[in-house]
Amino acid sequence: MQIVTTINEVRTIVSEWKKQNLTVGFVPTMGYLHEGHQSLIAKSVSQNDKTVVSIFVNPMQFSPNEDLESYPRDLEKDAILCEKTGADLIFHPQPEEMYSNNFCSFVDMNGLTNNLCGKSRPIHFRGVCTVVSKLFNIVKPDKAYFGEKDAQQLAVIKQMVNDLNIDIKIIGCPIVREADGLAKSSRNTYLSDKERQAALILSKSLKYGKTLIENGERNSQKIIDKITEIINTEPLAVIDYVSVVDSLTMENVKTIEKDVLVAIAVKIGKTRLIDNFSYSV
Ligand code: PAF
Repeated sequence: MQIVTTINEVRTIVSEWKKQNLTVGFVPTMGYLHEGHQSLIAKSVSQNDKTVVSIFVNPMQFSPNEDLESYPRDLEKDAILCEKTGADLIFHPQPEEMYSNNFCSFVDMNGLTNNLCGKSRPIHFRGVCTVVSKLFNIVKPDKAYFGEKDAQQLAVIKQMVNDLNIDIKIIGCPIVREADGLAKSSRNTYLSDKERQAALILSKSLKYGKTLIENGERNSQKIIDKITEIINTEPLAVIDYVSVVDSLTMENVKTIEKDVLVAIAVKIGKTRLIDNFSYSV
């Protein structure tokens, strides 16, 4: 497995692969890889001849008050995980390689980004769409893999490739959880022991919400109220949102008649965590 830092190196390697008619899978990440990322890499390795993983903490998707500086980084450990999972290439650029001084073009979106995380993180998806488009143009993969934990991001990327005729198949992969239910996230590393315990309230409340829907509840507000009530039993938890949205449009739904996403964002101490489940009618 190779680790490269420049766009030219990626292009040279991938074009050699393409000359040999090899298929390329791509897993974009911000590093500090865990089993969730590993499942994306493993899926790519199983479906493609070659797999590229990008590790880039993208400054453009962080607001000034967010955790860009403290975002965890460990390239050595990431490289070991990539290699043992079968990746062929890591692209690890510095911000200067991705954004020149006179950078001024952006990929942005309406609608899908107005609700959920887009509401509380107004510039986030512009940063995600811009960097992912750039990475797609650099790597030129056949398929790209994204986790369903970031369900809104997955919907946004699918919409973007459709709208902009980007010829890449987007593949969503299931949430990977710790044994006790906490969704794997690089940000879990911020949690103290007490916060780690408190964070279980996310998966616990969603589990209850899912049971309500499975037992026939179709009134979104009742589900939201119950999930909210459960989260509020945890003193360290502060709710950002609890929402029931249409799986495709990310708009709030009052009555569950179509496929929905039940999504939550909760701050545990200073750490903002997200989790969700999908329900198909
Ligand atoms: O999900 C992430 O880790 C990031 O948002 C992504 C897709 C790598 C873009 O920076």
